[in-house]
Amino acid sequence: MPEIVPGQSPDAIHRAVSLINAGALIGFPTETVYGLAADADNPAAVAHIFAAKGRPADHPLIVHLGADDLLTHYAREIPDEAWTLAEAFWPGPLTMILKKALTVPDVVTGGQDTVGIRLPGHPVALAFLRALAESRRSAGQQGGGLAAPSANRFGRISPTTAQHVADELGDAVALILDGGDCRVGIESTIVDLSRGLPVILRPGAITAEQLSLVLGRTVQAHAKKDERAPRVSGSLASHYAPRTPLKVVDAGMIDRQIARGDVAAIVRDTDDLPPRVRQYASTRILANDPMDYAHDFYRVLRELDGGGYRQILVQALPQHSEWLAIQDRLSRAAHRDLPDNT
Ligand code: TXA
Ligand code: MG
Repeated sequence: MPEIVPGQSPDAIHRAVSLINAGALIGFPTETVYGLAADADNPAAVAHIFAAKGRPADHPLIVHLGADDLLTHYAREIPDEAWTLAEAFWPGPLTMILKKALTVPDVVTGGQDTVGIRLPGHPVALAFLRALAESRRSAGQQGGGLAAPSANRFGRISPTTAQHVADELGDAVALILDGGDCRVGIESTIVDLSRGLPVILRPGAITAEQLSLVLGRTVQAHAKKDERAPRVSGSLASHYAPRTPLKVVDAGMIDRQIARGDVAAIVRDTDDLPPRVRQYASTRILANDPMDYAHDFYRVLRELDGGGYRQILVQALPQHSEWLAIQDRLSRAAHRDLPDNT
């Protein structure tokens, strides 16, 4: 099993930077989910990410930066709106798709002419990224970005603790920086700025309303179906799926089925939740608030998935835009049209 070290420790950061410079993979915390990092300027190291995850080569990775002055090293023809969004939301859970700089290795972008970039809002991630950039500068080199997908096997539940990363990837990862529980708990919002009109490719904690407000024009909450697929692997219907079959139902159905013993349930803490549902050990009660729910959702899903249940029932979510990002992950978790670990 890989070593898990406290991410706040300067010594741990130093080791992680040395390992990245040697071409190894590092597990690290972000405010959304844990990432699996390789040197974005080292194609051989990045190729190891795809092997470790079992991820198809044409699914591009996000490049993580510690400061936005590195943006010009990885992207070109950067529109003003990208700088506006960077100013407003970075560090934070927003990924921008931009035209890629010619120096970005094809293995990072899955051969596309665009690159996803974000500046994560987690102190350990920022310390790691800034120490890496500094090590490049002091060697007279450019760069210091980390190519990093979520640190799970392809198609599975994203990790929100250091232990989840160890459980998912084992010794494929050289070292894991522990930064505690991820604050957000679901992956970043992805907005495509590479073709004029900004379009959200994956909903997340930063909403279309927030982007629209800052840009002063309407950003659509969703790309039209299949419009830009399959460039976002998170857009495959069965992404983020547990192994246990999962079904979205109303609370009444959970009340009728929970006594069977072989089903587990994820419900929201509302006044009208049937009292009996609360009593079962196989019930997990999440907050009836989208931010708090997102924070706990993957952890609870992972835990129940390992519990040997025949089925996981999830109480349907409110049809409100605040719940859109979780709605999106939940509907993917409920799909089972791809075999395991594809
Ligand atoms: O919150 C997050 O974004 C986390 C943390 C670790 O930063 N990362 C993450 O990475 O979720 P990953 O690889 O699991 O998902 C990134 C998504 C993929 O669906 C990928 O297809 C999409 O971003 N993506 C990356 N580059 C892209 C590009 N050039 N064009 C379109 N989609 C892209
Ligand atoms: Mg992922």
